[in-house]
Amino acid sequence: MSGPFTLAPLPWEAGALAPVISAHTISFHYGKHHKAYVDTLNKLVEGSKFADMKLEKIVQATFKSDDKKEKPIFNNAAQVWNHDFYWRSLSPAQTEPSGKLASAIAASFGSKSELIAQLAEAGKTQFGSGWAWLVGKDGKLEIRKTANAQTPMAEGINCLLTVDVWEHAYYLDYQNARPKYLEAVLDKLLNWEFAAENLERQDQPVRAAAE
Ligand SMILES: [Fe+2]
Repeated sequence: MSGPFTLAPLPWEAGALAPVISAHTISFHYGKHHKAYVDTLNKLVEGSKFADMKLEKIVQATFKSDDKKEKPIFNNAAQVWNHDFYWRSLSPAQTEPSGKLASAIAASFGSKSELIAQLAEAGKTQFGSGWAWLVGKDGKLEIRKTANAQTPMAEGINCLLTVDVWEHAYYLDYQNARPKYLEAVLDKLLNWEFAAENLERQDQPVRAAAE
């Protein structure tokens, strides 16, 4: 996807994740916050060298930039990518890791419950806005946390799942109780089929991102 960028459709109905995440939260999170990142990105890249670049390429080209004009481009491009990835990381249908993914979880964490515990801890301890991630690196699965718009994808790291821990992701449903939001989302909504699809491209994340 290169510019002008569009707000990708949600992979489920706005109320499908309730009661864990309400349609009210989705209406603001997707309809206002995510949309604003898309609209702002389009304004920022118009007429620039980024206008015809793929979204992933823009994120990777700007994430270390000190250029005052490129920082907001990174922030908005990364937030568009992160939100697209977050919606697909969630599923109203209960899924479970199987096959290669289940083996990788056992090898890297010992169990799915340990993975969940570490992902919850990453989300809880991310100070301020950010993201908690399950990523694949050097043949292993790892947990990461990033601040604000930062994303492991910028460094060519293969992302498997993410959870948004910005306040706008949970405040309407859980107020300040980020741990309760994390507990519910990690227990009921993680899309392990999406994680398995992402694991399949473990060996070529950078090439895939640069296409
Ligand atoms: Fe968000």
